[in-house]
Amino acid sequence: MNRQGSRAALSHGKKQSEVGTTIPFNPYAGNFMFQRRLILVALASLMASPAAYRCYDRLMTKAPPVDAAMAQEGKVLFDHEWTPNDPLAGGGDGLGPVFNANSCVACHRQGGGGGGGPRENNVHVFTVRPNVSEMAAGGKARQGVVHTQAVGPTFQESFGHVHPEMPIHVLPISVGPVFQPITFSGNSLPRGVDLSQRNTPALFGAGLIDAIPDSDIIANERAQRLKWGLATSQSKDLPVGRALRMADGRIGRFGWKAQTVRLADFVRAACANELGLGNPGQAQPQPLGFPSYQPRGLDLTDAQCDQLTQFIVSLPRPVERTPLDADLHRKARAGKSLFARIGCTHCHVADVGNVRGMYSDLLLHDMGQETEAGGNYTDQPLEEPAFKPGSGPFPAEWRTPPLWGVARSAPYMHDGRAVNLEHAISMHGGQGAKSAHNYASLPVDEQAQVIAFLMTLDTP
Ligand code: HEC
Ligand code: HEC
Repeated sequence: MNRQGSRAALSHGKKQSEVGTTIPFNPYAGNFMFQRRLILVALASLMASPAAYRCYDRLMTKAPPVDAAMAQEGKVLFDHEWTPNDPLAGGGDGLGPVFNANSCVACHRQGGGGGGGPRENNVHVFTVRPNVSEMAAGGKARQGVVHTQAVGPTFQESFGHVHPEMPIHVLPISVGPVFQPITFSGNSLPRGVDLSQRNTPALFGAGLIDAIPDSDIIANERAQRLKWGLATSQSKDLPVGRALRMADGRIGRFGWKAQTVRLADFVRAACANELGLGNPGQAQPQPLGFPSYQPRGLDLTDAQCDQLTQFIVSLPRPVERTPLDADLHRKARAGKSLFARIGCTHCHVADVGNVRGMYSDLLLHDMGQETEAGGNYTDQPLEEPAFKPGSGPFPAEWRTPPLWGVARSAPYMHDGRAVNLEHAISMHGGQGAKSAHNYASLPVDEQAQVIAFLMTLDTP
């Protein structure tokens, strides 16, 4: 809080001193000028400590140091094809009993290990809210993942476990050229049920995102508000984002909903939720149809989770490749300025702190009704969406995804509903609608320039 306040003083102070330099030439300024000087001196001393912080912040955002030996061990775990009772899983039951794939790399693989994943590997998350009478009887919302696989039929999860009106299916995953919202025999989801999918994002550069100080993310939040005349993030059309604040004030930055603060925590959650590997940071999920199942112990140690995290930190960051072909180079360069001109950079800001070329503000934006989706990974007490610390994001709120590496991370958007970049842009509603409209209004050759620019944002 303190630091935020001093940041405001800092930028305010700068303006004052610019004005101050012109004042001595005004013969009538007299006492007023002297008072101003005093105020300036006072402001300058107030600024001294935040300025030091700022400097410290910047240094902190350097590429984090990597323990090469740990990262090597982590790569082995990331690529390992886990089995039930796996020898690497210590005292636990190994893979499962419910899981979505048998290795991290099975999903994170496009453009190399650690990359994004195809739609077939989408993860299904749900929320079921109690109805009025259930609520009166003390019923609570349930949420979690419907896993696509299990070590045996006894444990296999289905949509029927989410709600009795839904089919006992082993997951009809929509794959095809056009995204189909999940419906059952033409009906929409039962009342109170929210079921949606998440597409696998790439992990290149995640170590840098982890190292960004909260204050740098908050600086963008403030800049966006100021740019639009102190508009709030509740705006349905202005591109004013908000940082997702945890109850303890830290800022979420990982996941499609910015739901997680630290990379190390996301890794622990992924081990449990995707592979069924329980660890000190996250218990493995109970099968939806077999809630009494008890694992005999943990599958991973803290040290193994740290190795996995170190492996991800060691992945090289994405790059902005200059096309060799001169014509393409010209097109991409023109596209880069168009990208800013039509308002994409309101949210996909190139730099946060001193992390360059990420093209995200890491803030949540309301992307319109079409994108609405809830669901969450763990059955923690449901945090109802609200604009206050410790609350969950709203269904239409999504974190601006970093566009670095976007040339190789199709399909796009949180559930992979967009098969290509043009498609992704056209699906920007809510706060993104205006810039999507600007894009659609460009002549075809200029649209191609924007795409040519996006195609320079490549995996390492
Ligand atoms: C079944 C596919 C699948 C598997 C297997 C998988 N992931 Fe993921 N991963 C995802 C999806 C989907 C997301 C996005 C989740 C969200 O934000 O809702 C994700 C997100 C992440 C993120 C956050 C990235 C970001 O920038 O927000 C990390 C870190 C991660 N996974 C690490 C791992 C690790 C480590 C493993 C192995 C233990 C793993 N994942 C296994 C699908 C998978
Ligand atoms: C209001 C903020 C905002 C603006 C403005 C905006 N975007 Fe986005 N963009 C987002 C968010 C949030 C998502 C993710 C939405 C989702 O997953 O449902 C996204 C997703 C994307 C994706 C898909 C990325 C991926 O990894 O899946 C691309 C590509 C993209 N935007 C390009 C653009 C371009 C080009 C423009 C300008 C025409 C633009 N965006 C303007 C916020 C914005």
